[in-house]
Amino acid sequence: MACQSLIAQLAILFLLVSSVIAQSCWKNTTCSGPTDTAFPGAWESNIFAPSSRTVSPASILSKEGSYSSSFKGSAHLSGNGSQLVFDFGIEVGGLVTLDYSATGQGSIGLAFTESKNWIGEWSDSSNGQFAGPDGALYATFNRSGKYSYTMPDIRLRGGFRYLTLFLVANGTATVNIHDISLAIGFQPTWSNLRAYQGYFHSNDDELNKIWYSGAYTLQTNFVPVDTGRHVPFLITGWQNDGVLGPGDTIIVDGAKRDRAVWPGDMGIAVPSTFVSIGDLDSVKNALQVMYNYQNPTTGAFPEAGPPLLQLGSDTYHMWTMIGTFNYVLYSNDTAFLQQNWAKYLLAMDFIYAKVGPSGLLNVTGLRDWARWQTGFNGSEPNMILYRTLITGADLAVWAEDSTGLNATWNGRAASLKTAINQYCYDPAYGAFKDNATATTLHPQDANSMAIAFEVVDTTAKAESISTKLLDNWTPIGAVSPELPGNISPFISSYEIQAHFSIGQTARALDLIRRCWGWYLNNPLGTQSTVIEGYLQNGSFGYRSTRGYDYDSSYVSHSHGWSSGPTSALTSFILGLSITGRAGSTWKLAPQFGDLKTVEGGFVTSLGKFQASWALQERGYTLSYKVPEGTSGEVVLPTLDSGRFPSITIDGRPVPGRINPQIVGNGVVLNAAGGSHAIVVQ
Ligand SMILES: *[C@@H]1O[C@H](CO)[C@@H](O)[C@H](O)[C@H]1NC(C)=O
Ligand SMILES: *[C@@H]1O[C@H](CO)[C@@H](O)[C@H](O)[C@H]1NC(C)=O
Ligand SMILES: *[C@@H]1O[C@H](CO)[C@@H](O)[C@H](O)[C@H]1NC(C)=O
Ligand SMILES: *[C@@H]1O[C@H](CO)[C@@H](O)[C@H](O)[C@H]1NC(C)=O
Ligand SMILES: *[C@@H]1O[C@H](CO)[C@@H](O)[C@H](O)[C@H]1NC(C)=O
Ligand SMILES: *[C@@H]1O[C@H](CO)[C@@H](O)[C@H](O)[C@H]1NC(C)=O
Ligand SMILES: *[C@@H]1O[C@H](CO)[C@@H](O)[C@H](O)[C@H]1NC(C)=O
Ligand SMILES: *[C@@H]1O[C@H](CO)[C@@H](O)[C@H](O)[C@H]1NC(C)=O
Ligand SMILES: *[C@@H]1O[C@H](CO)[C@@H](O)[C@H](O)[C@H]1NC(C)=O
Repeated sequence: MACQSLIAQLAILFLLVSSVIAQSCWKNTTCSGPTDTAFPGAWESNIFAPSSRTVSPASILSKEGSYSSSFKGSAHLSGNGSQLVFDFGIEVGGLVTLDYSATGQGSIGLAFTESKNWIGEWSDSSNGQFAGPDGALYATFNRSGKYSYTMPDIRLRGGFRYLTLFLVANGTATVNIHDISLAIGFQPTWSNLRAYQGYFHSNDDELNKIWYSGAYTLQTNFVPVDTGRHVPFLITGWQNDGVLGPGDTIIVDGAKRDRAVWPGDMGIAVPSTFVSIGDLDSVKNALQVMYNYQNPTTGAFPEAGPPLLQLGSDTYHMWTMIGTFNYVLYSNDTAFLQQNWAKYLLAMDFIYAKVGPSGLLNVTGLRDWARWQTGFNGSEPNMILYRTLITGADLAVWAEDSTGLNATWNGRAASLKTAINQYCYDPAYGAFKDNATATTLHPQDANSMAIAFEVVDTTAKAESISTKLLDNWTPIGAVSPELPGNISPFISSYEIQAHFSIGQTARALDLIRRCWGWYLNNPLGTQSTVIEGYLQNGSFGYRSTRGYDYDSSYVSHSHGWSSGPTSALTSFILGLSITGRAGSTWKLAPQFGDLKTVEGGFVTSLGKFQASWALQERGYTLSYKVPEGTSGEVVLPTLDSGRFPSITIDGRPVPGRINPQIVGNGVVLNAAGGSHAIVVQ
C-alpha cells in the first residue's frame, strides 16, 4: 500500500512538473521560439517582459489611485461596492485566475484598463461597436467557501496594466483574495519571453528604455491565431475568439485592440521586430494571410486580415508588398517568395494600373491611417508607391524573374519620382503639398516619407523639408497637419527616420525624447509600451473626432506601429543595418548625436551582427563583429568636415584595397566580415 501511494505521489509530481513545463508556451502551442537571449548582458535589465508566462500583480492601489502597497497574495473585499485595484506595473494580457474564499453570496467583478484614467468597474473600450461598454467579468459565489475562478478563453483580455476587483452582493458578503495569477497570452510560441535576439544599449538610459518599450510592445502584439477580436463587433462586453490566420503566432496591430493583421502598421512594426525580438514567424503568418485573402480577380489585398477583412485601401495594399520585401530581406525565405510571387505580380498590376497620364498614382481605394484627406493624387500614397516599386525591383531579382521586371520597376520608380517632384512639391513653401493641387496643407507623413524613401531629388529640398517639419513640433511631439490636434507616434516614426537619414541626428533624438519620452514617463500610461496616438493637449483622446466616437478609452496603449525608435536607434545611432538578404551585405554608419557610448546587435540566419562605438578624447573607437563571408560598407563620421582623419583598423593603417573615400561628412570604407576594431583620431 505504502509503495503504491508513493508511486501515485510520484506520478502526481511528474504530472505537475510536466504541466508546468507544458505551460511555458501558451496552452497547447508548440514552443518554437529561442530559449535564451542571443546577447546576454547588463542591458537585459531594461527588458520589460517578465521572466515567467504566469505573473501576479506588483501592487495594490488605493481607491484614489495614489498610494500603492505591494500585493503579497492577501487582500480583502467587504460589502457591496467595495473594490481593490491591482497594478501589474507593466502592460500584460491574457487570462486571469482568482483564488479566493468568500462568505455569503455575491460576485466579484473584474475590470481591466491599460491607462490609469479608466480604473473602475468598467473596462476601457475595445469591442469596436461604440454602442456599449466593455464592462466587466463576474466570478460568482453562492455560499461560503473556497473558490477558484478563471476567465473563459473567449474573454481573454489582450492588453491591460490595471485590474479592478469589486464586490457585488445583496447582503453582507466578504471576500479574501488569496492569489491572482495571469497566464500571459502573447508571444505564444516562446517559452522565455526575455530571449531577445537583438539588443541596444547606450549611455542614455531614457533612450534605452524607449527602445525596450517598443520591443515589448511588439511582443504583446504577437498573439495566438485564435484570439482575434470577434466580428461582428459585440454591443457590450468583449470577445477575442476570431481566427486571424495560419500558424501558431501572428502579429496584430495592438494588444488590447484591434487584434487583427494590419499591413500599414507592419511598415514600422516589422523592422523594429527584426532588430529586437527577432520573431519573424509572426510576420510571415501575417503576410501569408494577406496573400490568402487577395482578391483573385483584381489583385487587391485586404486592408485588414480576417475576421475583420476590411477592404479598399490602396496604401495598405502597398504596405503588404513592402512588408513582403522586408520579410524576405530579413529572412531570405525564398520559398515564401516563390509561393506568393504570382500573387505579388497581380498586386503590382492592380496598383500600377492606377497611375495616370501625369505619372502620378490616382488613389481610389480610400482607406488609410487616420489622416483626413485620402484619394486622388495624394502625396503620401505616391511616396509609398515609389517605395513599393524600388523594393519590388529587388524582389524581382530575388524571385529570379527573367522577364526584366527589375529594370521595368526601377524605371517606373524613376518616372514616378520625377512626377512627384514636379507636381507635389511646393517650392514657395519648401516642402511637399498634400497632393498635386493648389492646397496649402503640407503633411507630416508624405514629407517624412519623401526623405526616408529617397524621393526628394535634391539635398537642398531634403534639408528644407526637415526644417519645415519642425513647425509641427510641440513640447510633447509633432502634431500632424493631416490629422490636426493629434500626435501620431506612427507617422513620427517616419519623421525620425527622415531626420536621421540626412544626418539631422539632433532633431531625430529630440523628437524621440519629446514624444516617446513623454509617454514612457507619463504615470497615466503603461510605462512599458508605446501608444497608438494622443492629443496635442496631452490627453489620450487620439482620433476622438476621427472614428473613435469621442471615446478616449478606446485608444490602444500597446501599438507596434509606434515602435519606430527601436529600429531607428539600431539602424542610425548604432548605425547597423542589413542591405542584402539575411545580412549577406550590411552597412555600419553610426551617428553620435549627444551620446557617448552605444552598442547593439541582432541575429539573422547567417549569425550574429554586433557593433559598438565609444567617443574618446580625440576621436572614437568603432568595433563590429558580423559573420565571416559577408561584406559591408562602413561610414566613419569625419572629425573635421571634408578632411581625412587618422584611421587604424585592428591596429594597422587602412590597407589600400579598402579604398576609403570622403562622401559628405563621412569616410566610406568597403569592409569585410568578421570581427574588427577601428580607431579614428
Ligand atoms: C490542450 O488540448 C486538449 C485537447 O484539445 C484540451 O483538452 C486541453 O484542455 C488543452 N490544454 C490547454 C492548457 O489548453
Ligand atoms: C452594489 O455595488 C454595485 C457595484 O458597485 C453597484 O452597481 C450597485 O448599485 C450596488 N447595489 C446596491 C444595492 O447598493
Ligand atoms: C451560483 O448560482 C447561479 C444561479 O443558480 C449559477 O448559475 C452559478 O453557476 C452558481 N455559481 C457557483 C460558483 O456555484
Ligand atoms: C482619379 O480617379 C477618380 C475616380 O475614379 C476619377 O474621378 C478622377 O478623374 C481620376 N483623376 C485623374 C487625374 O485621373
Ligand atoms: C488635396 O489636399 C487638400 C488638403 O488635404 C484637400 O483639402 C483636398 O481635398 C485635396 N484634393 C484632392 C483632389 O485630393
Ligand atoms: C536592377 O536594376 C538596376 C537599375 O536598373 C540596376 O542598377 C541593377 O544592376 C539591376 N540588378 C540586377 C541584379 O540586374
Ligand atoms: C490631381 O488630381 C486632381 C483631382 O483629380 C486633378 O484636378 C489634377 O489635375 C491632378 N494633377 C495631376 C498632376 O495629376
Ligand atoms: C484636450 O482636447 C480634447 C479635444 O479638444 C478635449 O476634449 C479635452 O477635454 C482636452 N483635454 C485637456 C486635458 O485639455
Ligand atoms: C538566399 O536564398 C537563396 C535561394 O535559396 C540562396 O541561393 C542564397 O544563397 C541565400 N542567401 C543567403 C545570404 O543566405
